[in-house]
Amino acid sequence: MNRRDFLSSGAAIAAVTIMAPEFAFAAESDQIIKLPEPDKNGGKPLMECLALRRSSHVLGRGDVDMPTLGNLLWAAWGINREDGKHVIPTALNKQQVVVYAVRSDGVWEYMPKEHAVKKVLTGDRRNAFDGAGLVLLYAAPEKDSYSAMHVGSMYQNVGLFCASAGLDNCVKHQKYDALDVDLPLPSGWMTFVTQSVAWPK
Ligand SMILES: Cc1cc2nc3c(=O)[nH]c(=O)nc-3n(C[C@H](O)[C@H](O)[C@H](O)COP(=O)(O)O)c2cc1C
Repeated sequence: MNRRDFLSSGAAIAAVTIMAPEFAFAAESDQIIKLPEPDKNGGKPLMECLALRRSSHVLGRGDVDMPTLGNLLWAAWGINREDGKHVIPTALNKQQVVVYAVRSDGVWEYMPKEHAVKKVLTGDRRNAFDGAGLVLLYAAPEKDSYSAMHVGSMYQNVGLFCASAGLDNCVKHQKYDALDVDLPLPSGWMTFVTQSVAWPK
C-alpha cells in the first residue's frame, strides 16, 4: 500500500490521534491529528472580504491556533460536498494538489477527506521560508498545465479567509521549493508557491 492509499484508507483513520481538548500539537512524527470542524457559517460577507483582501509584507512569528488552521486548510482544499468535491474547482476533477502547513512543531500534510493533518517532517522549518507563524506550501504535478491554476484558486480562497478573519498573509514565490527534497512529494510533483499567514503583531 503506498502512502497516498494509506492516507485514504481506514488504517489512517484508525491512526488518528485522540485530541487533547485544546487541540494541542504533540511532537511525534507520523502523527495524525483531526482538525476542529471549519466554521462554515462565520466570517464577513464576501464583498467585504474582497474589499479587505491584501498582502502583508511584515508577518508575525506566533503559531496560528488550531481552529484557525482548520478553517485555513478547509478554505484552501477542504471538501464541501457529499460527493467528495472541493472548495476549489480542478480540471477534470483530478484533484492533484497537496497542501502542507509549516509550523513551529513540524510540517503537516492536510488530509481533506479526514479534515486532519499528518506530520511529515519534524522540527521548525519555517526559517527555510520567511519565518512567519504559519507557512502554507501548495504542491502539484510540475508538468500539469493546470497546476498553477489550482494553486492560485487555493491561495485566493485563503487570502479571502484571512481578510475575513483579520489575519495577515502574503503569497510568496521566494524559496518556494526549499523543502521539496525533504517532503514526501509524489514523483514529478513540486511546490509551486507558498503563503505565509500570521495574526497581526
Ligand atoms: C504568485 C505570486 C507570487 C508572489 N511572490 C511574492 C514574493 O515572493 N514576495 C513578496 O513579498 N510578495 C509576493 N507576492 C505578493 C505581491 O507582491 C502582492 O500580491 C502585490 O504586491 C499586490 O499587493 P496586494 O496583494 O496587497 O494586492 C506574490 C504574489 C503572487 C500572486
